[in-house]
Order: sequence, then structure tokens, then C-alpha cells
Amino acid sequence: MLDSIKQVLEDAKNRQVENSKDLEDFRLKFLSKKGVINELFEDFKKVSREQKREFGQELNNLKGVVEARFKELQDNVSEVRTEDAVPDLFLPTGSGTLGALHPLSLVKRRITEIFERMGFSSEDGPEIETDRYNFTALNFPENHPAREMQDTFFVSKGEEQSQDVLLRTHTSNVQVRLMENSKPPIRSIMIGRVYRNEAISARAHCQFHQAEGLYVDKNVSFRDLKDTLLHFAKEMFGKDTKIRLRPSYFPFTEPSAEIDISCFICNGDGCNICKKTGWVEIGGSGMVDPNVLESAGIDPEEYTGLAFGMGIERIAMLKYDINDIRLFFDNDVRFLNQFTGA
Ligand code: PHE
Repeated sequence: MLDSIKQVLEDAKNRQVENSKDLEDFRLKFLSKKGVINELFEDFKKVSREQKREFGQELNNLKGVVEARFKELQDNVSEVRTEDAVPDLFLPTGSGTLGALHPLSLVKRRITEIFERMGFSSEDGPEIETDRYNFTALNFPENHPAREMQDTFFVSKGEEQSQDVLLRTHTSNVQVRLMENSKPPIRSIMIGRVYRNEAISARAHCQFHQAEGLYVDKNVSFRDLKDTLLHFAKEMFGKDTKIRLRPSYFPFTEPSAEIDISCFICNGDGCNICKKTGWVEIGGSGMVDPNVLESAGIDPEEYTGLAFGMGIERIAMLKYDINDIRLFFDNDVRFLNQFTGA
């Protein structure tokens, strides 16, 4: 009998098991009711009393070893099976990370939305511009100090007949192109990037964005300018917002005014944002100068226009309480992620 036990042990150890069918054969041969091990237990009943102890131990050991081997084979076979298998299409997906819109994009979208509801279309123009569209057609006289209001990056200096090429210092260049290319009524909003040769600090940058507005038609008045800007301010910053138009100067508008909004952080009580005045500036505005209409081919006797230009970074800084303009251009995700779902 000892020989038979040894034999079964050898067989079980050497048996090749590669798939689930082999595994089932293994189980039937060794561990089922009619398997060889059970047969040996039957035989065991017949051995003599003296031998029972020794044979019993051997037999139990055999059963233990073969059962352990079966478990091991079972694990191997199921591993093989998962590798071969088609991926489980019903498993839940991982939680993907969701991006956020840049705060400037959020503000640009909101501005567009507000003006679209007032009937303004969206227009676009070039960032690399000639002197004519950025300055001359906007009534900036040649060699006039008003050109220095906006420190300019030049791409190339014009010689003899050709003009200077520059990075636009404001979005007002698009106004001129629009007036040249279309007939009144014109009612458009123009959003884009502008450049100025300024030292970079928490308050100023050499690149920023503006939203330009232009409305040219018969009988457009300063009152329309006030109404348009007030409506915008209420929509953008809340219904209790007030505006203040402060007399100013731009070569292309007459009269001209800076646009201030009431400080919604302290409600006029005076805080650091409004420098204790209760008002914060968001841009410039005015009635389109007749010279500008004329040089773009629009008869100033028949038509009048209003125009304004606002700083997008400025609006975003106020709206989201951001105290450093450089944050918009650093692309630090710790900053950007805060606008998820804004
Ligand atoms: N272009 C002016 C600026 O950048 C703003 C402005 C636009 C003023 C339109 C009046 C009318 O400062």
C-alpha cells in the first residue's frame, strides 16, 4: 500500500494542468468520490491493525498535499483565464479629471452673452496692425504726444511710403476696420488681446485683453452710451451696481469719459480695492469723433456713434477678487482649478 500512495503522489505532482478542462480531470482523478485517493481510503479499511497508524499518516499526508496542489492549479488557471478574456465592459470607469475654463474665458463669455442680448454681434481683428488702424485713422495726429499714452511694441518701422507695423495697443483698431467694411447700423463687440510696452507688476502687464464696443446709427446719443454701460454693469456685477462717467480724453472720441463702477466689495464705504473712494475704473468710452467716422467713410452729418473699451483682466480681478494680474498668464493649475464650475 505504501507503494501505491507514493505512486499517486508522484502522479499528482507531475500532472500537467493548463486549462479548466485539465483542472476538472485532475479533480475527478484524484479528489472526487470515485477518485484514486478515496479508493485508497477504501483499501485502508482492510489493512491490519499494526499497520493502521503508519498507513493512516501517509494517506492523510497524501490527501493534504494533493488538495493543496489542486488549489494552486486552480489559482494559476484562473489567472490565465483573466489574461485571455475580453475586458469587462460593465466595470465602472475611473473618475476622469475635469478641466476648468480660464477665468479670462469665463469673463469673455459673460461679456459676449450680455452684449449679444442687447443686439451686439461679435467681431474680430488682427493683433499685428499697421499704424493707420491703431493710430492715424483713430485721429491720433502724427508725432502727437497722445501716441505715448500707450507705449507701443513695434514690429517694423516704416520707411518712406510704408507704415509702421506694431502690436495693437488697444482693440479700437477693429472699430475702424468694421466701419470701413460695413454700413450703419453697426452694433458690435470686439474682444481680444492687446500689447503695451509696460514693466510687468501685480497691477500691469505687457499683454492683456480688452472688450471694445461700437454702436453707429442715426441719432445715437450720449444717453445710449450711459444706458448701455449701466445695463452691462448691473448684469456683470449685480443689479445694485451704479456707474460714474468721468470726463477724460481720447483722440477718437468726443466727448470722452472713463467708466467707473460703484465698488461692490464695500458698497461705497471705502476699501482697499477702490482706494477708499467707493468707485473703481473698468475702461474708457465716448462718442465717436466725427473725424473718425469720416476717415472710415461714414457721413458724420447723418450718423453718430458711441464706443467703449474695457479691460477684461480688470473685470476678472474685481469679480473674482484676484490681486495680481500675473496670475492670469502663469498657468499655475492651483490657481486655475479654483474656477472649476465657476
Ligand atoms: N482704446 C481705449 C484704451 O485702450 C479705450 C476706449 C475705447 C476709449 C473706445 C474710448 C472709446 O484706453
